[in-house]
Amino acid sequence: AVTDHSPAVVVGTGYGAAVTALRLGAAGIPTLMLEMGQLWNTPGEDGKIFSDMLSPDRRSSWFKSRTEAPLASFLWLDIANRDIDPYAGVLDRVHFGDMSVYVGRGVGGGSLVNGAMAVTPKRWYFEEILPEVDADEMYGTYYPLANSMLGTNSVDPAWFETCDSYQFARVSRKHAQTAGLTTTFVPSVYDFDYMRREEANEVPRSALASEVIYGNNHGKRSLDKSYLAAALGTGNVTIQTLTEVRDIAQEQDGTYTLTVRRIDAEGNVLGVRQLGTKYLFLGAGSLGSTELLVRARDTGKLPNLGEEVGQGWGTNGNVMLGRANHVWDPVGAVESGMPALGIDAWDDPVNPVFAEIAPVPAGLETWASLYLAITKNPERGWFSYDPATDKAVLQWDVAQGQRSIDAAKSLFDRINSANGTIYRYDLFGDTRVFENRFTYHPLGGLVLGKATDLYGRVHGYRNLYVTDGSLIPGSTGVNPFVTITALAERNIARVLAEDF
Ligand code: FDA
Repeated sequence: AVTDHSPAVVVGTGYGAAVTALRLGAAGIPTLMLEMGQLWNTPGEDGKIFSDMLSPDRRSSWFKSRTEAPLASFLWLDIANRDIDPYAGVLDRVHFGDMSVYVGRGVGGGSLVNGAMAVTPKRWYFEEILPEVDADEMYGTYYPLANSMLGTNSVDPAWFETCDSYQFARVSRKHAQTAGLTTTFVPSVYDFDYMRREEANEVPRSALASEVIYGNNHGKRSLDKSYLAAALGTGNVTIQTLTEVRDIAQEQDGTYTLTVRRIDAEGNVLGVRQLGTKYLFLGAGSLGSTELLVRARDTGKLPNLGEEVGQGWGTNGNVMLGRANHVWDPVGAVESGMPALGIDAWDDPVNPVFAEIAPVPAGLETWASLYLAITKNPERGWFSYDPATDKAVLQWDVAQGQRSIDAAKSLFDRINSANGTIYRYDLFGDTRVFENRFTYHPLGGLVLGKATDLYGRVHGYRNLYVTDGSLIPGSTGVNPFVTITALAERNIARVLAEDF
């Protein structure tokens, strides 16, 4: 039986969800957010909310018995990972055959664990990926709005040149320039003024203390400090945590009925209940939202959902790799966990690459330069429904990642040959140089204009909306969260004007 009703429900608390809840709340609409992860605001026995990358504990990972760091090894040694107790920790790695996907779990979604790089794509590329969206409006109104709401800021270039924490980035910049390549500063939602004070030892260290993917105890403007704080401030938004939406069905009168499961932080199921709502917004991320609709279609609960549901998924062309530097060219023992520089070769006509110069926050000199390359890979995966496990399963073959490797290789071969350097072979558990069996940037599954109309309204159902990264067709050319935020702002403005 339906025990509870809310005028509007938002599933998830990541970027798309947070934007949507704020705008609904500000319009006076009582809105309930349902988030499967925890609210991260209570320090543990060590006085910290999150654990760091050097000594991760159970807070780091979503129900794992061992951490699953992206750099599997160093000098082939398994030193990055630790055995832990299964717990509702902040970072999940979801495994599907040849691909695994990192996602944040908790109030703020990916904003809790990401590298804070707040990058607006080149306009010509935005027009290529979403040609039916008015780019004037995006670049004139919604990107600026998203950046201002998110608290995007830029590193002080003078400090950048002299600080210890970006020596690694300056070394990579020098190597890129030797090869005739261009680098660019990337804006961030990490507070660069806080970072400057970290380096001066005026405040507790976070980015400079190996905190990134398992959460930052300071300095980062994650969504709980920006959009979600504003949403709660409207007085119309409430958030229920450790609450997972399992199923969506629809009543005769159009009301959506959600089957919702509550757990405790140890994973014990506390209860399952039904919740009704007229307006349902899916902001559970590319994996989460897509799974909910694939499951609803293939179990017959929302039979009008079409073929496009579950299609058009991509990795944003992610490839990770490391280069070995000469001994006389150290990167420094302290590396800021937050990238501030990228190699911008996106205009290359054959192999476009935007490579973030990534830290290895190991707390010691590594002589390694690490990169997360974003490439233009046209391959797309799709999701099937597996009745045995009741899960949506990503169909992605390892061969589909080869285009990304080829593009990254062409760029970094050039850098290596100009500098007389080689790749690192010891970082990904075996001897591979290019790691593309995981992505940080899952995009698509419920693509705008295909599974939904041009404002995220799901085809076949009234008052059912998608708000998150699943709308984006597999690629943004840069790190995606500013685009997800800006698109959500654009869509909810239209939906509020027309549907309420
Ligand atoms: P997002 O994934 O943020 O949120 C979805 C939320 O829904 C989660 O909190 C999840 O727990 C919840 N949920 C899922 N299913 C549910 C269900 N059934 N019921 C209830 N809740 C459910 N991007 C960028 O632009 N710059 C960067 O520097 C980085 N760096 C980076 C590093 C790492 C380690 C990761 C993992 C990711 C990044 N990213 C990034 C990517 C970025 O974080 C990502 O694109 C966005 O968080 C996606 O936003 P969404 O709104 O799509 O969902």
